[in-house]
Amino acid sequence: MTVLQEPPTDNAIEFASRDEISALQLDRLRWSLQHAYDNVAHYRASFDAAGVHPSDLTELGDLAKFPFTTKADLRQNYPFGMFAVPQERISRLHASSGTTGRPTVVGYTSNDLDNWADLVARSLRASGVRRGDKVHVAYGYGLFTGGLGAHYGAERLGATVIPMSGGMTDRQIQLIEDFRPDAIMVTPSYMLTIVDAMIKKGIDPAATSLRTGVFGAEPWTEQMRNEIEQQLGIDAVDIYGLSEVMGPGVAQECVETKDGLHIWEDHFYPEIIDPLTGEVLPDGEEGELVFTSLTKEALPIIRYRTRDLTRLLPGTARSMRRMQKVTGRTDDMIILRGVNLFPTQIEELILTVPVLAPQFQCVLDRPDRMDNLTVRVEARPEASAAARTSAATQLQKLVKNKIGVTVAVDVVDPTSIERSLGKARRIVDNRPA
Ligand code: DLL
Repeated sequence: MTVLQEPPTDNAIEFASRDEISALQLDRLRWSLQHAYDNVAHYRASFDAAGVHPSDLTELGDLAKFPFTTKADLRQNYPFGMFAVPQERISRLHASSGTTGRPTVVGYTSNDLDNWADLVARSLRASGVRRGDKVHVAYGYGLFTGGLGAHYGAERLGATVIPMSGGMTDRQIQLIEDFRPDAIMVTPSYMLTIVDAMIKKGIDPAATSLRTGVFGAEPWTEQMRNEIEQQLGIDAVDIYGLSEVMGPGVAQECVETKDGLHIWEDHFYPEIIDPLTGEVLPDGEEGELVFTSLTKEALPIIRYRTRDLTRLLPGTARSMRRMQKVTGRTDDMIILRGVNLFPTQIEELILTVPVLAPQFQCVLDRPDRMDNLTVRVEARPEASAAARTSAATQLQKLVKNKIGVTVAVDVVDPTSIERSLGKARRIVDNRPA
């Protein structure tokens, strides 16, 4: 078989020195602040109100003087008020629905789409996917950035794209069997749904052609990585992104190290802040991730508060800084009788109990003015009634010991928890508003 050459790529920046990266960031940051100030009424007003001007940025740290941008700002400027270019220069729109209110609308110029495809191609290369590989895309196509973002990146890499989108699980399985893809791009929770359906059909998930999985769009743990890698016999790596900043491909874990996600810092400048005070925290400390775009034309985004909690770490496989796997969003934090906890912490513990499957929900209710949390979790198919009862007690003890709070555990039948075709719904809040 002929070995295909990699297409010529300018990936020198991925291995550039810290000084080179910082110099590029400073240049681009100046441009981005000026572009936002000159072309978006919201930024002009918010910079003026904070008494800052793009010319006040003389070093990267000066960015801290500039005001934050939030999802509410995008909503208030619905649909196109945050765009910095005339409508005829917008090549594509995407939107995220969110749980309440108006969707958040994002736009891209053709240069933005070009950069996005390059960055997803770079992410796929870091995942171990190569030109000529077949890539099965099971992120949803449409207004969600997952499907089309993955699609054009895989195409840019020179892969053969299978644009499957989410849903139709039987069809997913048939095409995985027949088309023999090398890689799959999908949410980790939907991957598990596909695996369960394969087992039910008597297909061995470890015997598919898949070699690599590029999973993201929702939080998932190291324990979940092990589960997926073992079940499918693949390398499972993490891809991160958000529509306001671009879509998938803002940061990517490298297959050779699997130690957190390299942020593509030549296009996005990250900061970690204390979510309560807004103060910038030093690298290594956990807080809320904030992004400033460095090259985006249509929707420059300045100090966008992602609500995602993580920490910044030095580069390893690449020189750009890494972010630790996201533990959760500030919005997904459950405060139970004063104790803060995230669904990912529950996921970690569930996967240490062999009888329990990684399909779960955290159900909140308030029977008599006290908040209760019930962890509804599926048993593995082979588990006996006695094993289930003892697994429930075991999980309850683990949660008490590791997180410090008492929860109820309800071990339910396999496949009885609602399956998502995209992002899993981990929290069911039945408390009165
Ligand atoms: O979820 C973009 C995406 C698509 C990323 C496909 C990766 C793969 P949104 O719908 O705007 O965009 O949701 C963004 O999803 O702020 C995080 O809370 C969460 N998220 C995305 N990737 C990860 C990840 C897409 N790898 C929101 N780990 C973000 C944890 C993630 N959370």
